[in-house]
Amino acid sequence: MSTNFAVIGSTGKTGRRVADLLEAEGFAVRRLSRGTSPAFDWEHPERWADALRGIDRVYAAYVPDLAAPGSETAIARLADVAADAGVERIVLLSGRGEDGARRCEDILLASSVPATIVRASWFAQNFTEGMLSDATVTGVLALPAAAVREPFIDVDDVAAVAVAALTEPGAVHANRVHEVTGPESLTFAEVAAIMSETTGREVAYLPMGFDEFHAAVAAEAGEAVATLLTELCRETFDGRNVLPTDGVDAALGRPPRDVRSVLRAAAAAATATAADRSSS
Ligand SMILES: NC(=O)c1ccc[n+]([C@@H]2O[C@H](COP(=O)([O-])OP(=O)(O)OC[C@H]3O[C@@H](n4cnc5c(N)ncnc54)[C@H](OP(=O)(O)O)[C@@H]3O)[C@@H](O)[C@H]2O)c1
Repeated sequence: MSTNFAVIGSTGKTGRRVADLLEAEGFAVRRLSRGTSPAFDWEHPERWADALRGIDRVYAAYVPDLAAPGSETAIARLADVAADAGVERIVLLSGRGEDGARRCEDILLASSVPATIVRASWFAQNFTEGMLSDATVTGVLALPAAAVREPFIDVDDVAAVAVAALTEPGAVHANRVHEVTGPESLTFAEVAAIMSETTGREVAYLPMGFDEFHAAVAAEAGEAVATLLTELCRETFDGRNVLPTDGVDAALGRPPRDVRSVLRAAAAAATATAADRSSS
């Protein structure tokens, strides 16, 4: 019998890569997000059983964040629904240094479904695909991070660790936490300098106060998002996450990719796409 995988958050930064890697290895993957059929919406737990019917192994990226209100209830319910559906393994993406995320991890690890946590540092792809990707357009990378260092991780490495946990023998990964980071810790000013170098467009880091950051995000995305992001920054930019780990090497037997390589590859891909567009 073949193994059936489901990826929750399959259009997102990690889920898309996890699903692609699994399919490249020949596995059957049910991609799940709000727009798929069946759909998976964290806001509608009454429909999760349909989404997980016939599934053996699950990758889950929780939205908006495991530190957000309601996450513990959702993760406990996911474990229950997965157990009822006969799911034999769950791999959950988590955030490094977040107390709320840690509580969700504990809930899942204490559940009846064998689970693995991939606890990741800040994604390098936040600068290329995520919320900070417009910095190369505006020329400003604005965050309440002072001069704190962060061991930014390549999302391809996060996905590769998740896929190892999903596909390798269960005993290797069951009830384990893979704490994964990039190879070196950089300040946001150093990242801005690398963005400038790799894109050819000047980007400067603007350190903000937490209140100023909250007001700026609230104006763009509303109060709830602003409160969540500000609290996440306040919690994780206090120096607790500065040191890199050997989590990628331990899980994959190779070192993680650095931020410069990620940003250089993204800049090259953007240049190639622009060239394609102008020639067609
Ligand atoms: N960014 C970082 O630096 C970082 C670091 C560590 C951990 N994390 C964690 O990563 C997780 C996010 O994962 P990601 O970055 O791979 O995703 P992402 O790029 O933020 O994309 C979100 C995914 O979730 C789906 N989604 C949105 N709202 C949903 C809902 N209500 N119900 C079900 N699906 C929904 C989206 O698809 P649709 O919109 O099509 O539904 C999409 O597939 C968060 O838990 C975050 O804490 C992030």
